Amino acid sequence: MTLSPQEQALVQAARAARAHAYAPYSNYSVGAAVLTSDGRIFTGCNVENASYGLTVCAERVAVFSAVAAGAREVVTVAVCTPDGATPCGACRQVLAEFVPDLSACPVLVVKPDAFVARYTLAELLPHHFGR
Ligand code: THU
Repeated sequence: MTLSPQEQALVQAARAARAHAYAPYSNYSVGAAVLTSDGRIFTGCNVENASYGLTVCAERVAVFSAVAAGAREVVTVAVCTPDGATPCGACRQVLAEFVPDLSACPVLVVKPDAFVARYTLAELLPHHFGR
């Protein structure tokens, strides 16, 4: 799989963000990075809570960080999971809110030491809810 230099930087950012995961309950650390249309990269990690349901996934932390900094258009996503798992359904829907063209938004899935797969957000979330 060939990644552009920008995609490689995004993957590295997701891997680096994973180091900050706060996951003492699941012991499953995730890192995510989003590239916005203005060329900025925002990162996130999962942040768990003793009240388990309050946990926030890495992907949502990354996209909310982008929005909080004034960016509204996500054009590429990278996620680093221990086993190559893809983003959960809730995060797919939250990402879709800020992705102008789901079929043009790569989602790069990696493990800490290996590339896993390249999807588009449209492939991962067909018929997303939007209004
Ligand atoms: N998690 C993410 O950060 N992203 C996902 O897409 C799925 C799951 C986190 C939530 C929780 O802290 C841990 O992984 C195990 O579910």
